[in-house]
Amino acid sequence: ETIRKRLFSQVCDGESKPPCKVTVVGVGSVGMACSISILLKHLATDLILVDVIEDKLKGEVLDLNHGNLFLSNVHIDGGKDYALSAGSKIVVVTAGARQQVGESRLSLVQRNVNIFKHIIPKIAEHSPDAIIIVVSNPVDLMTFVAWKLSGFPRHRVLGTGTNLDSARFRHIISTRLKVSPSSVHACIVGEHGDSSVPLWSCVSVSGRSLTSIEPNIGKPDGPKGWDKVHKEVVDGAYDVIRLKGYTNWAIGLSCAEMVESILKNKHRIMPVSCFVKGVVGIKEDVCLSLPCVLNASGVSSVVEVSLNKDEKSALDKSASLISEVQAGLKW
Ligand code: NAI
Ligand code: 2OP
Repeated sequence: ETIRKRLFSQVCDGESKPPCKVTVVGVGSVGMACSISILLKHLATDLILVDVIEDKLKGEVLDLNHGNLFLSNVHIDGGKDYALSAGSKIVVVTAGARQQVGESRLSLVQRNVNIFKHIIPKIAEHSPDAIIIVVSNPVDLMTFVAWKLSGFPRHRVLGTGTNLDSARFRHIISTRLKVSPSSVHACIVGEHGDSSVPLWSCVSVSGRSLTSIEPNIGKPDGPKGWDKVHKEVVDGAYDVIRLKGYTNWAIGLSCAEMVESILKNKHRIMPVSCFVKGVVGIKEDVCLSLPCVLNASGVSSVVEVSLNKDEKSALDKSASLISEVQAGLKW
C-alpha cells in the first residue's frame, strides 16, 4: 500500500462502473470451456468459479489469473462458498456427473438432481436476481429442477438445450453445401440429445428453403445421404465421448453466445431450453428447447414455430419422454 501511495496521486476513490459478475459452478471440462469462452468474449468484470474440489478450483483460478494479461483484467476468484458469487448477473451451472462411453444423458438424472439440491438454493440465496443457465445433463430435466428449486420466475432459468445440437446440425449441413455454418439457418428443437427434433421445414440458406428444392430432404425417401444428417448430430456427442472422454469446446462456445445475448441485451434468437407448457400446443409441465429471444431479462419470449405434422408429433414424443422421466424423480 505504501508503494502504491508513493507511486500514484489519487484523483478519485472507488470505481464508478457497476460490476458484471458471472459465476460458473463446476470447474470440470465443461465449466472451464464455458469460463474461457466467456472470458475471451470480454463479457464479465468478475468471474467466480465454485466447485467442491478445492485444489482443482485453486489451480484453475491461478491458471486463469496468469492469463489475465491477455484478457480484460477480469477479477477472477473461486471457492466453495457461494458468498463469493453474491450478486452475480448470470450463474452457469455445469456441476455434476457426466456420461461414460455409451451411457445416455438421462441415466445421469437422479445423481445430478441430488447435486442440484445443494447448489441451486445457495445460488438463489446469494444471487436472487441472477439468470441461471443450466448446462449439466440431462439438461432439460435439470433446467426444470433448477427452476423449481430456485423459485425464480420462468424467464430467469434456462438451459443450453439444443443450441449445441443446432450448431452440430448447421455444421454438418454447411460442410455439405460448402458455406459457413452462420449462413445456414437451421434449428433442432425438443430434448437435447437422443429425442431431439430437426426442423427440416425451417432449414434455409440465403432465404431459400431446402424443402422448396427437395420436399423430402432429411427423410428416408429423400435425397441420398441427407437422411443420415440428424443421426450424425445425435451420434456426434457419443463419438466425441468415445474418442476423448467428454465434450466441452462446442458447449462452452455455445453457452458463451447465450451469455453474450443476455448481458448485451442483444435479443438474439437461439434454440434453448425453458419451461414451454402451452407453446406450440405442448401440454406437459416440461422444459425443452424451442427458439427463444434472449435479452437482459433472460428468455423474453418463445417463438411459436410452425411445425409440419411429423415434426409436431416428434416434438410431442420428446415432451412426453421428458415428462415420464421427470415423474420418476425423487427430490
Ligand atoms: P467433469 O466431471 O469434468 O466436471 C464436473 C464438475 O462438477 C467436477 O469438477 C465436480 O467436482 C463438480 N461438482 C460435483 N458436485 C458438485 C457440487 N455439489 N458443487 C459444485 N461442483 C460440483 O464433467 P464435465 O465434463 O465438466 O461435465 C459436466 C456436466 O455437463 C455433465 O453433466 C455433462 O453431461 C454436462 N454436459 C452438458 C452438455 C450440454 O450440451 N448441455 C455438453 C457437455 C456436457
Ligand atoms: C453433448 O451433447 C454430452 O450433452 C453433451 O455434447
